[in-house]
Amino acid sequence: MSLVPLTENEHRFAEAFKQFRKASDQESLMKQWIVDDLPKVIHSNPSTVKFMDTNVIQILGIGSGFGNMDMLIFDVFGNNNQKVNEIVLEPNKVEVEKFKSTIKSLDQYRFVNLECLPETVESYMARNTSRKFHFIHCIHVLYYVKNPAAIIEAAYNCLEEGGMMLIIHAAASHGINHVKNTFGAKLFASPPKYTPNGSQLEKLVHDLGYKYSSDIINAKLDMTECQNPASQNGNLIWDFITHVASFTENASPEIKGAINDVTKSEFCYRNGGKVFMNIDSSVLIIVK
Ligand SMILES: C[S@@+](CC[C@H](N)C(=O)[O-])C[C@H]1O[C@@H](n2cnc3c(N)ncnc32)[C@H](O)[C@@H]1O
Repeated sequence: MSLVPLTENEHRFAEAFKQFRKASDQESLMKQWIVDDLPKVIHSNPSTVKFMDTNVIQILGIGSGFGNMDMLIFDVFGNNNQKVNEIVLEPNKVEVEKFKSTIKSLDQYRFVNLECLPETVESYMARNTSRKFHFIHCIHVLYYVKNPAAIIEAAYNCLEEGGMMLIIHAAASHGINHVKNTFGAKLFASPPKYTPNGSQLEKLVHDLGYKYSSDIINAKLDMTECQNPASQNGNLIWDFITHVASFTENASPEIKGAINDVTKSEFCYRNGGKVFMNIDSSVLIIVK
């Protein structure tokens, strides 16, 4: 029986993603980076600082999910009398509806106008829209596109001169990207494409001749609950690690055993009776 990709079940994806973020320190560390480091990066680029004065900051959010990172980015840009207009490319309706209702319910984001398009970044870019943006973010999304290099180039072309693109993506030491690249072909009838890691993306950006800087965010995923097959939370985390809907229930014992062996590899470690997976992220900041 072939397994169903998690991306084909929006509700399960949303649940698994939430549980993954709960069991890891990825979100809090990315938040810290956006709050503490992004303003510094912006202010070290005079061409980017220039548009901080424009009345309406134009943002493109690629795969915003629940919008948790977007809201922090709004805080960085939307100050004083500035408004923010964000186009959100998010095919998962469950997540984007939650994002929209959160923004509506929070007075502090009255300066934000969201235009949510329920489509993939590929279909948006294929429309060849001439719209330009001051800031584009693509945070943990490039695993889901067929050709990450083409998306980076297309997004770069949508930047205003002086505009900035933030990419956050699995570093070479990231366990989930390793699982995808190692086991994807065994899990699915139509195997996913190899996803480059952050260092490989950095080389690509370098070879394209773009001006960029990079950083790293070290994070970990607590996989302890994954060791208990009766744990619903553990099973949701397995779904996010493998990107298979209801992986524990539906995968063969052989493939489950092989993937669980990742906990004994260099991508995982044990500490205080718990099992952790490295989910370090590369940060790339490209300036046009
Ligand atoms: C791991 S989540 C990251 C969400 C958000 N950026 C964050 O970091 O909190 C990846 C998101 O990308 C979205 N996605 C998947 N394929 C996509 C595509 N081809 N174009 C745009 N977004 C996509 C998914 O629906 C999901 O919400």
